[in-house]
Amino acid sequence: MPSLDTPQTSTTNKTLGHPLNTWYAAAWDHEVTANALFSRTVAGRPVVLYRTDAGRPVALADACWHRLAPLSRGKRVGSDEVQCPYHGLRFNSAGRCTQMPAQSTINPSATVPSFPVVERHRFLWVWLGDPTRADPQTVPDMHQMDSPDWAGDGSNLSVDANYQLLLDNLMDLTHEEFVHSSSIGQAELSESDFEVTHDERTVTVSRWMLDIDPPPFWLKNMRDKFPGFTGRVDRWQIIRFEAPSTIRIDVGVAKAGTGAPQGDRSQGVNGYVMNTITPRTDRSCHYFWAFMRNYRLESQLITTQLKEGVTNVFGEDDIMLAAQQAAIDANPDHEFYSLNIDAGGMWVRRLIERMLAAESPAAAGA
Ligand code: FES
Ligand SMILES: [Fe+2]
Repeated sequence: MPSLDTPQTSTTNKTLGHPLNTWYAAAWDHEVTANALFSRTVAGRPVVLYRTDAGRPVALADACWHRLAPLSRGKRVGSDEVQCPYHGLRFNSAGRCTQMPAQSTINPSATVPSFPVVERHRFLWVWLGDPTRADPQTVPDMHQMDSPDWAGDGSNLSVDANYQLLLDNLMDLTHEEFVHSSSIGQAELSESDFEVTHDERTVTVSRWMLDIDPPPFWLKNMRDKFPGFTGRVDRWQIIRFEAPSTIRIDVGVAKAGTGAPQGDRSQGVNGYVMNTITPRTDRSCHYFWAFMRNYRLESQLITTQLKEGVTNVFGEDDIMLAAQQAAIDANPDHEFYSLNIDAGGMWVRRLIERMLAAESPAAAGA
């Protein structure tokens, strides 16, 4: 296994497989409601999600023990059970069969896999790997989602691209100049220096752009906090990846020269772009995102405007990523090349490759 400190030499691995011993966001909390069954494919596996009468979330394999009919097409019954739509078997929240129509004895092997679930930071997180390793402490840190110090909202997109391509996209924001030229893009993004640091689980890419004109998105946000603002700003993007697929981006602008790089952000506006990406198949993923801010917390108008603005921005990424995946599929022999701007993304690949190696049969036998 290559050491984390191996110099970057590989241009291969256009896209990667996904680790299983990890928490993936399966749904927003509000997507899984009482008395309903919700289906979503997580890391290649169809999962049915629902809530017990007490409100506790449950995740079962979405395939009946009997003949594999999708349980999500059945009914939510009893206090915590689901009934198969095909021949009526019932399973409880542990995945154990509790009733077999036309039979008085229940085959003890009649179970469907039940997956650990944690509800945190407005998402339901599921663990599809070894359940004995499912430690709720390791759910990714997305605390801005439900902190009283932050306000905002988000959504989710089904993207027709391997999750790795979306991680690449978020780790290198110079693409904003070209993909998002009407909202957040500006030439200074690729003209400014950036710094990459990492540890065993995280990668951080930091970029400051000093004394620049704010692009339209940020000028509007400044005016929400400082009505009538004109002038130049210091802009920052601090991208923090947490393996395998969560990225929080500390973003903002402050009046130029008022000390933001030194830590005084009082003359600026600060947001967090919250992203967690769940592999769906090798060529598709679920993109959960939100934009949280720490100013004008009371304004639902600003929440809605920011959500709509970011929805438009991420729609531009969605189109690019699907086109990129299609081109990768059409050019299987062409490898990726890496530029300086890909430094953060290359560290992301190394950390994910380490997780994959730890789950490989060779690692298990070692
Ligand atoms: S397939 Fe579910 S009861 Fe037959
Ligand atoms: Fe983008």
